[in-house]
Amino acid sequence: MSELNLYKERFERLLEKYLAEYPAKLSPVWDAMVYAVSAGGKRVRPALAYMGAAVAGKSEECADSVALAVEFIHNYSLIHDDLPCMDDDDLRRGRPTVHKAFGESTAVLAGDALLNLAFECLGGTGRAAAYIAGKSGMRGMVGGQCLDLANSGGAGVQGAEQLDLINSLKTSALFQAALVGGALAGGADDKTCAALETYADALGKVFQIVDDILDVESDEKVLGKSAGQDEKNGKVTYVALLGLDGAKERARELNAQGQAALDCLGERGERLKQFATLLLKRVK
Ligand code: IPE
Ligand code: IPE
Ligand code: MG
Ligand code: MG
Ligand code: MG
Repeated sequence: MSELNLYKERFERLLEKYLAEYPAKLSPVWDAMVYAVSAGGKRVRPALAYMGAAVAGKSEECADSVALAVEFIHNYSLIHDDLPCMDDDDLRRGRPTVHKAFGESTAVLAGDALLNLAFECLGGTGRAAAYIAGKSGMRGMVGGQCLDLANSGGAGVQGAEQLDLINSLKTSALFQAALVGGALAGGADDKTCAALETYADALGKVFQIVDDILDVESDEKVLGKSAGQDEKNGKVTYVALLGLDGAKERARELNAQGQAALDCLGERGERLKQFATLLLKRVK
Protein backbone atom coordinates (compact mmCIF):
# COMPACT_ATOMS: atom_id res chain seq x y z
CA MET A 1 0.00 0.00 0.00
CA SER A 2 2.01 2.93 -1.20
CA GLU A 3 0.24 5.76 0.67
CA LEU A 4 0.61 3.76 3.86
CA ASN A 5 4.29 3.04 3.28
CA LEU A 6 4.88 6.71 2.63
CA TYR A 7 4.22 7.53 6.28
CA LYS A 8 4.80 4.23 8.07
CA GLU A 9 8.52 4.59 8.64
CA ARG A 10 8.16 8.11 10.04
CA PHE A 11 5.39 6.97 12.34
CA GLU A 12 7.23 3.88 13.66
CA ARG A 13 10.30 6.01 14.49
CA LEU A 14 8.16 8.65 16.18
CA LEU A 15 6.29 6.05 18.23
CA GLU A 16 9.44 4.27 19.33
CA LYS A 17 11.02 7.55 20.49
CA TYR A 18 7.86 8.69 22.27
CA LEU A 19 7.57 5.41 24.18
CA ALA A 20 11.29 5.27 25.02
CA GLU A 21 11.19 8.78 26.51
CA TYR A 22 7.96 8.44 28.48
CA PRO A 23 8.77 9.08 32.15
CA ALA A 24 6.32 6.79 33.99
CA LYS A 25 6.54 3.14 33.04
CA LEU A 26 4.74 1.05 35.64
CA SER A 27 4.63 -2.71 35.03
CA PRO A 28 2.66 -4.61 33.97
CA VAL A 29 0.28 -2.00 32.51
CA TRP A 30 3.03 -0.14 30.66
CA ASP A 31 4.30 -3.40 29.15
CA ALA A 32 0.79 -4.22 27.97
CA MET A 33 0.46 -0.77 26.37
CA VAL A 34 3.76 -1.17 24.53
CA TYR A 35 2.78 -4.72 23.51
CA ALA A 36 -0.44 -3.41 22.00
CA VAL A 37 0.84 -0.37 20.13
CA SER A 38 4.13 -1.85 18.91
CA ALA A 39 2.62 -4.93 17.30
CA GLY A 40 2.64 -3.44 13.82
CA GLY A 41 -0.87 -2.58 12.70
CA LYS A 42 -1.39 -1.07 9.27
CA ARG A 43 -1.21 2.47 10.73
CA VAL A 44 -4.13 3.64 8.58
CA ARG A 45 -5.12 6.40 11.03
CA PRO A 46 -1.65 7.98 11.31
CA ALA A 47 -1.50 8.03 7.49
CA LEU A 48 -4.82 9.88 7.48
CA ALA A 49 -3.52 12.40 10.03
CA TYR A 50 -0.51 13.15 7.82
CA MET A 51 -2.69 13.43 4.72
CA GLY A 52 -4.94 15.87 6.59
CA ALA A 53 -1.95 18.11 7.29
CA ALA A 54 -0.88 17.78 3.64
CA VAL A 55 -4.32 18.94 2.45
CA ALA A 56 -3.83 22.00 4.68
CA GLY A 57 -0.48 22.59 2.97
CA LYS A 58 1.59 21.67 6.03
CA SER A 59 4.47 19.28 6.60
CA GLU A 60 4.19 15.97 8.41
CA GLU A 61 5.73 17.29 11.61
CA CYS A 62 2.65 19.37 12.18
CA ALA A 63 0.48 16.22 12.46
CA ASP A 64 2.84 14.04 14.54
CA SER A 65 0.92 14.47 17.78
CA VAL A 66 -2.43 13.78 16.08
CA ALA A 67 -0.96 10.67 14.44
CA LEU A 68 0.27 9.33 17.79
CA ALA A 69 -2.95 10.23 19.59
CA VAL A 70 -5.31 8.55 17.14
CA GLU A 71 -3.18 5.41 17.00
CA PHE A 72 -3.19 5.28 20.83
CA ILE A 73 -6.98 5.67 20.88
CA HIS A 74 -7.39 3.06 18.14
CA ASN A 75 -5.28 0.57 20.08
CA TYR A 76 -7.16 1.22 23.29
CA SER A 77 -10.40 0.58 21.39
CA LEU A 78 -9.03 -2.73 20.09
CA ILE A 79 -7.83 -3.91 23.53
CA HIS A 80 -11.30 -3.33 24.95
CA ASP A 81 -13.04 -4.65 21.79
CA ASP A 82 -11.20 -7.97 22.22
CA LEU A 83 -12.16 -8.48 25.89
CA PRO A 84 -14.34 -11.50 26.80
CA CYS A 85 -17.18 -9.13 27.73
CA MET A 86 -17.09 -7.66 24.20
CA ASP A 87 -15.99 -9.59 21.08
CA ASP A 88 -14.02 -12.18 23.05
CA ASP A 89 -11.04 -12.52 20.72
CA ASP A 90 -7.81 -14.42 21.41
CA LEU A 91 -5.71 -13.26 18.49
CA ARG A 92 -4.73 -9.82 17.16
CA ARG A 93 -1.98 -9.01 14.64
CA GLY A 94 -0.78 -12.60 14.81
CA ARG A 95 -0.27 -12.59 18.58
CA PRO A 96 -2.39 -13.29 21.66
CA THR A 97 -4.69 -10.37 22.47
CA VAL A 98 -3.66 -8.16 25.38
CA HIS A 99 -5.97 -9.80 27.94
CA LYS A 100 -4.68 -13.23 26.87
CA ALA A 101 -1.07 -12.14 27.32
CA PHE A 102 -1.45 -9.95 30.45
CA GLY A 103 -4.81 -10.76 32.05
CA GLU A 104 -8.09 -8.86 31.93
CA SER A 105 -7.50 -6.26 34.64
CA THR A 106 -4.18 -5.21 33.10
CA ALA A 107 -5.83 -5.05 29.66
CA VAL A 108 -8.59 -2.76 30.93
CA LEU A 109 -6.05 -0.43 32.54
CA ALA A 110 -3.77 -0.47 29.50
CA GLY A 111 -6.73 0.71 27.41
CA ASP A 112 -7.53 3.44 29.94
CA ALA A 113 -3.92 4.60 30.03
CA LEU A 114 -3.62 4.67 26.22
CA LEU A 115 -6.66 6.94 25.98
CA ASN A 116 -5.07 9.35 28.44
CA LEU A 117 -1.71 9.11 26.73
CA ALA A 118 -3.44 10.29 23.56
CA PHE A 119 -4.59 13.50 25.23
CA GLU A 120 -1.21 14.06 26.83
CA CYS A 121 0.27 14.05 23.31
CA LEU A 122 -2.36 16.47 22.05
CA GLY A 123 -1.57 19.08 24.71
CA GLY A 124 -0.62 21.86 22.29
CA THR A 125 -3.29 21.35 19.64
CA GLY A 126 -6.52 22.89 21.04
CA ARG A 127 -9.09 22.58 18.24
CA ALA A 128 -7.80 19.20 17.12
CA ALA A 129 -7.84 17.85 20.69
CA ALA A 130 -11.47 18.86 21.27
CA TYR A 131 -12.50 17.38 17.92
CA ILE A 132 -10.69 14.09 18.59
CA ALA A 133 -12.21 13.85 22.09
CA GLY A 134 -15.71 14.11 20.62
CA LYS A 135 -15.05 11.54 17.90
CA SER A 136 -13.62 9.04 20.41
CA GLY A 137 -16.45 9.13 22.93
CA MET A 138 -20.23 8.87 23.02
CA ARG A 139 -20.54 10.96 19.85
CA GLY A 140 -18.16 8.61 18.09
CA MET A 141 -16.32 5.35 18.72
CA VAL A 142 -17.70 4.53 22.19
CA GLY A 143 -21.24 5.32 21.03
CA GLY A 144 -20.72 3.00 18.05
CA GLN A 145 -19.40 0.19 20.25
CA CYS A 146 -22.45 0.70 22.48
CA LEU A 147 -24.81 0.19 19.52
CA ASP A 148 -22.64 -2.66 18.24
CA LEU A 149 -23.02 -4.54 21.53
CA ALA A 150 -26.78 -4.36 21.14
CA ASN A 151 -26.26 -5.84 17.66
CA SER A 152 -24.97 -9.15 18.96
CA GLY A 153 -26.18 -12.45 20.31
CA GLY A 154 -28.72 -12.59 17.51
CA ALA A 155 -30.62 -9.44 18.61
CA GLY A 156 -29.89 -8.05 15.16
CA VAL A 157 -30.12 -4.64 13.54
CA GLN A 158 -33.22 -3.32 11.88
CA GLY A 159 -31.64 -2.67 8.49
CA ALA A 160 -29.05 -0.86 6.42
CA GLU A 161 -29.73 2.54 7.96
CA GLN A 162 -28.99 1.32 11.49
CA LEU A 163 -25.94 -0.58 10.30
CA ASP A 164 -24.61 2.57 8.61
CA LEU A 165 -25.03 4.44 11.88
CA ILE A 166 -23.12 1.78 13.85
CA ASN A 167 -20.28 1.68 11.31
CA SER A 168 -20.17 5.43 11.07
CA LEU A 169 -19.77 5.80 14.83
CA LYS A 170 -17.60 2.83 15.70
CA THR A 171 -15.18 3.12 12.76
CA SER A 172 -15.60 6.31 10.70
CA ALA A 173 -15.43 8.55 13.76
CA LEU A 174 -11.77 7.63 14.41
CA PHE A 175 -11.01 8.06 10.69
CA GLN A 176 -12.50 11.55 10.99
CA ALA A 177 -10.54 12.19 14.19
CA ALA A 178 -7.35 11.35 12.30
CA LEU A 179 -7.97 13.13 9.02
CA VAL A 180 -9.80 16.23 10.23
CA GLY A 181 -7.59 16.30 13.35
CA GLY A 182 -4.51 16.45 11.08
CA ALA A 183 -6.12 19.14 8.94
CA LEU A 184 -7.07 21.20 12.02
CA ALA A 185 -3.52 20.91 13.36
CA GLY A 186 -2.45 22.31 9.97
CA GLY A 187 -4.90 25.22 10.24
CA ALA A 188 -7.32 24.07 7.49
CA ASP A 189 -10.42 26.19 6.88
CA ASP A 190 -13.98 25.09 7.69
CA LYS A 191 -14.91 24.22 4.10
CA THR A 192 -11.90 21.93 3.73
CA CYS A 193 -12.62 20.25 7.08
CA ALA A 194 -16.25 19.66 6.09
CA ALA A 195 -15.21 17.94 2.85
CA LEU A 196 -12.67 15.78 4.70
CA GLU A 197 -15.23 14.87 7.33
CA THR A 198 -17.70 13.64 4.70
CA TYR A 199 -14.98 11.70 2.90
CA ALA A 200 -13.71 10.07 6.14
CA ASP A 201 -17.25 9.05 7.08
CA ALA A 202 -17.61 7.15 3.79
CA LEU A 203 -14.07 5.75 3.99
CA GLY A 204 -14.61 4.38 7.50
CA LYS A 205 -17.86 2.71 6.49
CA VAL A 206 -16.15 1.12 3.48
CA PHE A 207 -13.30 0.00 5.75
CA GLN A 208 -15.69 -1.66 8.20
CA ILE A 209 -17.67 -3.39 5.42
CA VAL A 210 -14.41 -4.75 3.97
CA ASP A 211 -13.42 -5.88 7.51
CA ASP A 212 -16.74 -7.72 7.77
CA ILE A 213 -16.26 -9.29 4.30
CA LEU A 214 -12.73 -10.42 5.23
CA ASP A 215 -14.10 -11.92 8.45
CA VAL A 216 -16.09 -14.29 6.22
CA GLU A 217 -13.85 -14.70 3.15
CA SER A 218 -10.35 -14.71 4.58
CA ASP A 219 -8.54 -16.69 7.26
CA GLU A 220 -6.55 -16.29 10.44
CA LYS A 221 -3.17 -16.70 8.73
CA VAL A 222 -3.71 -13.74 6.41
CA LEU A 223 -5.68 -11.54 8.82
CA GLY A 224 -3.59 -12.09 11.95
CA LYS A 225 -6.91 -12.24 13.84
CA SER A 226 -9.54 -14.97 14.06
CA ALA A 227 -11.98 -15.19 11.16
CA GLY A 228 -15.68 -15.99 11.51
CA GLN A 229 -15.98 -13.81 14.61
CA ASP A 230 -19.07 -11.88 13.53
CA GLU A 231 -21.12 -15.01 12.98
CA LYS A 232 -19.83 -16.49 16.25
CA ASN A 233 -20.99 -13.36 18.09
CA GLY A 234 -24.31 -13.23 16.27
CA LYS A 235 -23.57 -9.82 14.72
CA VAL A 236 -25.56 -8.61 11.77
CA THR A 237 -23.21 -7.08 9.19
CA TYR A 238 -23.74 -6.07 5.57
CA VAL A 239 -22.64 -9.58 4.63
CA ALA A 240 -25.46 -11.05 6.74
CA LEU A 241 -27.92 -8.44 5.46
CA LEU A 242 -27.11 -8.39 1.72
CA GLY A 243 -24.77 -11.35 1.12
CA LEU A 244 -21.14 -11.08 -0.01
CA ASP A 245 -21.93 -9.59 -3.43
CA GLY A 246 -24.39 -7.11 -1.96
CA ALA A 247 -21.87 -6.04 0.68
CA LYS A 248 -19.19 -5.53 -1.97
CA GLU A 249 -21.58 -3.46 -4.06
CA ARG A 250 -22.45 -1.32 -1.02
CA ALA A 251 -18.73 -0.76 -0.34
CA ARG A 252 -18.18 0.38 -3.95
CA GLU A 253 -21.18 2.72 -3.72
CA LEU A 254 -19.92 4.30 -0.49
CA ASN A 255 -16.43 4.58 -1.96
CA ALA A 256 -17.83 6.56 -4.90
CA GLN A 257 -19.67 8.86 -2.47
CA GLY A 258 -16.47 9.44 -0.51
CA GLN A 259 -14.49 10.25 -3.63
CA ALA A 260 -17.13 12.72 -4.78
CA ALA A 261 -16.85 14.61 -1.49
CA LEU A 262 -13.22 15.37 -2.37
CA ASP A 263 -13.95 16.92 -5.76
CA CYS A 264 -14.18 20.41 -4.27
CA LEU A 265 -10.54 20.10 -3.11
CA GLY A 266 -9.21 19.59 -6.66
CA GLU A 267 -5.57 18.41 -6.77
CA ARG A 268 -5.35 18.46 -2.96
CA GLY A 269 -7.79 15.53 -2.80
CA GLU A 270 -5.94 13.27 -5.25
CA ARG A 271 -3.83 11.31 -2.76
CA LEU A 272 -6.87 10.64 -0.58
CA LYS A 273 -8.79 9.33 -3.58
CA GLN A 274 -6.01 6.84 -4.28
CA PHE A 275 -5.93 5.90 -0.61
CA ALA A 276 -9.65 5.04 -0.64
CA THR A 277 -9.17 2.74 -3.63
CA LEU A 278 -6.30 0.98 -1.83
CA LEU A 279 -8.39 0.39 1.28
CA LEU A 280 -11.29 -0.94 -0.78
CA LYS A 281 -8.97 -3.56 -2.30
CA ARG A 282 -7.08 -4.47 0.88
CA VAL A 283 -6.75 -8.12 1.87
CA LYS A 284 -5.97 -7.67 5.60
C1 IPE B 1 -9.40 -2.93 12.97
O1 IPE B 1 -8.70 -1.82 12.48
C2 IPE B 1 -10.70 -2.48 13.56
C3 IPE B 1 -11.66 -1.97 12.58
C4 IPE B 1 -12.10 -0.77 12.60
C5 IPE B 1 -12.18 -2.86 11.56
P1 IPE B 1 -7.42 -2.00 11.56
O2 IPE B 1 -7.69 -2.98 10.46
O3 IPE B 1 -6.95 -0.64 11.13
O4 IPE B 1 -6.37 -2.65 12.57
P2 IPE B 1 -4.78 -2.63 12.55
O5 IPE B 1 -4.38 -1.44 13.36
O6 IPE B 1 -4.27 -2.56 11.14
O7 IPE B 1 -4.39 -3.92 13.23
C1 IPE C 1 -14.00 -2.82 15.71
O1 IPE C 1 -14.78 -3.52 14.82
C2 IPE C 1 -14.31 -1.41 15.78
C3 IPE C 1 -13.75 -0.73 16.97
C4 IPE C 1 -14.22 0.42 17.32
C5 IPE C 1 -12.71 -1.33 17.81
P1 IPE C 1 -14.52 -5.10 14.84
O2 IPE C 1 -14.87 -5.68 16.13
O3 IPE C 1 -15.09 -5.69 13.61
O4 IPE C 1 -12.90 -5.10 14.67
P2 IPE C 1 -12.03 -6.42 14.67
O5 IPE C 1 -12.55 -7.29 13.58
O6 IPE C 1 -12.15 -7.02 16.05
O7 IPE C 1 -10.63 -5.91 14.36
MG1 MG D 1 -16.21 -5.24 17.71
MG1 MG E 1 -13.77 -7.17 17.24
MG1 MG F 1 -14.21 -7.29 12.50
